Amino acid sequence: MNIAIIGFGNVGKALAYGWQKAGHTIRIGARDPEDQKYNEAKRTGLEVLETARAVNISEVILVAIPASAVSHFAQALPGVKDKIFIDATNSVFMKDKEFPTAADAIRKITGAEHVVKGFNTTGFENMKDPIYKGKGIDMFMAGDSRKGKETMEKLSKDLGFENCYDFGGDNKFELIEQFAMAWINLAIMQGQGRDIAFKVLKR
Ligand SMILES: NC(=O)c1ccc[n+]([C@@H]2O[C@H](COP(=O)([O-])OP(=O)(O)OC[C@H]3O[C@@H](n4cnc5c(N)ncnc54)[C@H](OP(=O)(O)O)[C@@H]3O)[C@@H](O)[C@H]2O)c1
Repeated sequence: MNIAIIGFGNVGKALAYGWQKAGHTIRIGARDPEDQKYNEAKRTGLEVLETARAVNISEVILVAIPASAVSHFAQALPGVKDKIFIDATNSVFMKDKEFPTAADAIRKITGAEHVVKGFNTTGFENMKDPIYKGKGIDMFMAGDSRKGKETMEKLSKDLGFENCYDFGGDNKFELIEQFAMAWINLAIMQGQGRDIAFKVLKR
């Protein structure tokens, strides 16, 4: 798949390199593609382009910037109705003034029909390496778009997650952010550490 990564920080890097390893074509959408911080990415074969250009030529757009910056990002994107957006952001600490989640902002501002929320419920270390004791941990997603969720499921399994559970439609965007908050609470506030993960067990 052709995937644009918006936000090349902890989450963006973990997903970009993981998907590159799995054989996908990765382009980083950057505010300044010539910035030296992208040198290492370029050396490993990742293409770094202006954000709008990267979005324009990609079928999947992974959003991993602060949630409060997503409205501004979305305003600069015409003609993206059929593209798949995966919103990995959490608004719990940095909320947009107008929209409850970044996924809502992308839906409303761009008119995109395939917006799915995922890769927000666990730490970036688990996205880099989702294998615990030889078994993949689970990923979770929400959104109305079937096509978006099929893509999200495939891309999470390409990284090594065992399952990608469906939380439901767009009306579960806020719930899946609360679920992320449960991980943050356990890992950071309650001191369990970031090497913890959620897995659904079935009898
Ligand atoms: N860290 C985690 O474990 C984790 C897990 C799940 C979800 N998330 C969510 O994922 C998102 C990214 O987290 P992160 O830890 O990867 O953050 P990070 O390491 O701070 O990286 C953020 C990236 O966003 C870019 N950025 C910042 N402000 C921007 C703006 N106004 N417009 C465009 N790009 C901007 C930064 O570029 P510059 O370097 O140029 O500033 C950087 O590449 C957040 O919404 C977070 O809530 C994080």
